[in-house]
Amino acid sequence: MTDNTEDSESWTVLKILRWTTGYFEKQGIDSPRVDAEVLLADLLEMERIELYANFNRPMVDDELAAYRKRIKRRAAGEPCAYIVGYREFWSITLQVDQRVLIPRPDTETLVREALDIIEEHAPQAVVDVGTGSGAVAIALGSEHPDLQIAATDADEEALDVARQNVETHGLDETISLAHGDLLDAVDDDQKPVDLIVSNPPYVAETERDDLQPDVRDFEPTDALFAGEDGLDVIRRLVPAAFDTLAPGGWLLFEIGYRQGDAARDILTDAGFQHVEVIPDYGDRDRVAKGRRPL
Ligand SMILES: C[S@@+](CC[C@H](N)C(=O)[O-])C[C@H]1O[C@@H](n2cnc3c(N)ncnc32)[C@H](O)[C@@H]1O
Repeated sequence: MTDNTEDSESWTVLKILRWTTGYFEKQGIDSPRVDAEVLLADLLEMERIELYANFNRPMVDDELAAYRKRIKRRAAGEPCAYIVGYREFWSITLQVDQRVLIPRPDTETLVREALDIIEEHAPQAVVDVGTGSGAVAIALGSEHPDLQIAATDADEEALDVARQNVETHGLDETISLAHGDLLDAVDDDQKPVDLIVSNPPYVAETERDDLQPDVRDFEPTDALFAGEDGLDVIRRLVPAAFDTLAPGGWLLFEIGYRQGDAARDILTDAGFQHVEVIPDYGDRDRVAKGRRPL
């Protein structure tokens, strides 16, 4: 879509979607049509499905100019979620930008497991370690606003995003945010806790070059990488969680699909019982869990 090859009257929703899809394909973008639709639907303040009822709608000059900017950003590798400024996760919409990891569908496995524990064991005090956008804490809080959830992060800027999301979802009474390393940010008067959940950084440094450029070049490094084998943070988190949990309390954390065996060993060595690794929707190891003995 150049500025002068076509006048704006000749661009319709369908025509621009087709053009953008072809362009994104050439740029090697994985889901070219979906991305073209997400960026356009947001710009036109429509749901994606509404684009289909508006294929013949003409695009005006301002819309074309704004869409062109979005196409350029996406073609340069920036993820759609950062361009539109939000991502759906669980049943909620979260504001996101480059200060936080974009919440992933995989992490819904962690939420599902945590909800099972909440429903079975009725924990009162919950901690979400490495909250980022607040995704996990807000998903749990939206289902159980009566919980007391402390959400921590080592990155102040990420906590600013989480704070805004907590406010937007009206969960200020449910979720408190605290800055610090792992569980250091949890006040003594909040301990011991009954449930700790975490989606920590777990990508191995050795995998850096294999990551999609959208992830590697745009998402926060400290949210992704954890040492040579990706387990540096988990190795510190597990014993710290053991010391912070009440007897009978549970720890649940997300892992990479090749880290199941290592996670089991780390949990067992730290003294956890009922150690289990749970698969995600794609049947790959995704969440490790253990219980501090009663
Ligand atoms: C993989 S992201 C997860 C973000 C969010 N919970 C989610 O699931 O979308 C990991 C988060 O942990 C934070 N983090 C990394 N190291 C940490 C540490 N030592 N203590 C606390 N938070 C940490 C990062 O800043 C980042 O926000």
